[in-house]
Amino acid sequence: MSVLRLEHVTKRFGGLVAVNDLSFEVKERQIHALIGPNGSGKSTSINMINGSFPVTSGKIYFNDKDITGWKMHKIAAAGMGRTYQNLKLFRSMTALENVMIGGQLHAKMNFARFLIDPFKTKREEEELREKAMEIMRFIGIEQYADRTVGNLPYGRQKMTELARTLMIDPTLILLDEPAAGLNPNERAEFVAIIKKVYESGKDILLIEHNMDIIMNISHVITVINHGAKIAEGTPTEIQNDPEVIRAYLGDRYKIGMEGE
Ligand SMILES: Nc1ncnc2c1ncn2[C@@H]1O[C@H](COP(=O)(O)OP(=O)(O)O)[C@@H](O)[C@H]1O
Ligand SMILES: [Mg+2]
Repeated sequence: MSVLRLEHVTKRFGGLVAVNDLSFEVKERQIHALIGPNGSGKSTSINMINGSFPVTSGKIYFNDKDITGWKMHKIAAAGMGRTYQNLKLFRSMTALENVMIGGQLHAKMNFARFLIDPFKTKREEEELREKAMEIMRFIGIEQYADRTVGNLPYGRQKMTELARTLMIDPTLILLDEPAAGLNPNERAEFVAIIKKVYESGKDILLIEHNMDIIMNISHVITVINHGAKIAEGTPTEIQNDPEVIRAYLGDRYKIGMEGE
């Protein structure tokens, strides 16, 4: 079964073609990486996939269902979760509260409504709290539950955002540069968590800049440049693809240095 399929997807912002006739497929039980230089259209692709931006043309299928034009909350409710390149947390709320909001966003709730009417019933709140704690234990951040999230180290904030995404029980998770801005220790922790999430049965589409991470955890890599696909294959195939090396990897990765 195909988990996610893009068919000839294009996104124009005025005169700029941010994503250009992009087709690729995420298969079941895979960590699929989408890589490319800055500005090559990676975040725009994720934004179209989860319904943040409408496509200009083309089709997007989730579990073989045509979701082109669906609203973001409907796509989330169908089982697609995502994190953002720039964190979207309520900095003055606790980590636990931030994770709990993920459950509220499930169907029709939105942030504004949450602020007016946080939880419908005491029981609903209790259930969400328990589920959020369970997920935080799974990620390994339960000890930060009651801390104000804005005061946590950046790596913990990113883990909190990932935990929040899991509240909707997604089958597919889109991660937009999850390791960006993390120090090497935090990065190693995050890679371990991504693997754990994958092993718990979730499929993953990963945008990442750090080549060591990509080569370490992805099964398939799609490479884009100027919004268009230039290569696709296993980490080994991509590492040795002359066009990828020319457009993106440069000689640095080849000789064993980090891609950043
Ligand atoms: N909302 C937007 N409005 C106009 N241009 C945008 C918008 N979002 C992204 N772009 C442009 O689209 C191109 C691709 O951006 P993006 O998808 O963020 O790249 P990446 O994530 O690969 O770094 C860039 O030229 C960027 O400036
Ligand atoms: Mg981006």
